Amino acid sequence: MSAVLAERVCSAGSAALPAAPTGRREDIDACASEVLAMLQNHSYEDTAAHFRTSRGKVYSLAVRAGARKNEAAILERKADRRRRQLEFMESVVNSVQKADVLDFLAGLPDDSVPLHLCSPPYNLGLSYGQGASADAFSYSYYLGWSIQVLSEMARTLAPGGTLFYQVGSTRGPDGGLVPIDTVLFQHLITMGLTFKTRIAWVVPHGLTPKRRLAERYETALVFTKGPEHRVFNPDPVRTPQRQPGKRAFRGPNKGQLSGNPFGAHPSNVWTIPNARHNAPGRVEGHPAQMPVELARRAILLWTLPGDLVVDCFSGSGTTAEAAIRTGRAFSGCDLFYEDLRAQRLAAVSPDLSTPLPGITDESLAVWQAEARPVHVPARDPDLFDAPVPG
Ligand SMILES: C[S@@+](CC[C@H](N)C(=O)[O-])C[C@H]1O[C@@H](n2cnc3c(N)ncnc32)[C@H](O)[C@@H]1O
Repeated sequence: MSAVLAERVCSAGSAALPAAPTGRREDIDACASEVLAMLQNHSYEDTAAHFRTSRGKVYSLAVRAGARKNEAAILERKADRRRRQLEFMESVVNSVQKADVLDFLAGLPDDSVPLHLCSPPYNLGLSYGQGASADAFSYSYYLGWSIQVLSEMARTLAPGGTLFYQVGSTRGPDGGLVPIDTVLFQHLITMGLTFKTRIAWVVPHGLTPKRRLAERYETALVFTKGPEHRVFNPDPVRTPQRQPGKRAFRGPNKGQLSGNPFGAHPSNVWTIPNARHNAPGRVEGHPAQMPVELARRAILLWTLPGDLVVDCFSGSGTTAEAAIRTGRAFSGCDLFYEDLRAQRLAAVSPDLSTPLPGITDESLAVWQAEARPVHVPARDPDLFDAPVPG
């Protein structure tokens, strides 16, 4: 730095300048106002040289203070991008795009998706659409790609929104099996998402290998953006009480029925037959279909009617079907299967009621036997029947 420049900087605020800034972030922060004042009339390089720090540290300080040299232009570009993304999002609601996952996600605005629900390809060489090439990458490529996809999902997830990422195993570098959730877990934490649960999806039937145990479950990682789900609605997925007539044996409710009349609190073990071969609800023509019940449960638990559910690997349209049936909006993408989805979704309509599977004939009888009349006060005629003024 020239002596003239140093002189100018000192006279602009030298009294508060530390005698010998070391370049550590805390030291730069300690004289932030002087750094930012100098930045107004000098380049990042000159400012960094004066404060004996790196250009990156000065730039990072400017970012944090919203004082980059071209701040206005940057903010304008950001607002413009958000406008375009909102327009795109509106245009894709209740449709599935034939598109690559990263292209599709790039079109969505930050903080906009209440539920990302999907099952990605496992990189096992399945023949999706045009042969196995879309599912046969090296392990390290697959891992990097998955992290990219998940970080875009994290960006687009709404605050309090839920990520439901259903996976099995892939092949590792040596050809052995690697459970996908175990390698992605730490990356999701690093992305700032909050771990909520890991669902064991138990599949009662499947292949029987000769030299190892039969695989009878896959998992779904469930994360939120922020500490809590914005919606958590267990009632439509409660399970029947094992002892519906059980009573409290102590405390103020002693002798009263102790279970929830809607059924037991749902657990993270979901036993659901897979959608292979002649399974009910299966659509022929996709090699790795998810059962509708899996998507339906997740949607009922973590969204409200009208919320948007996005599946970035829509495949045969399972998530879209579950969203339509439960009265939610849907969107998503897939490289293939547009005809299969169109045909399937044309036949789907909203369910007329939401069953409460935790209530059984037995539990209903138990609770009805305890029913007592409830006194409801008569309507106040002055409040309800008074003529409307004006
Ligand atoms: C496990 S399957 C999902 C099945 C879907 N849940 C269903 O029930 O039909 C994975 C899907 O990802 C799609 N896919 C693979 N690579 C993709 C990419 N780069 N972008 C978008 N979709 C992709 C495949 O075509 C396949 O349909």
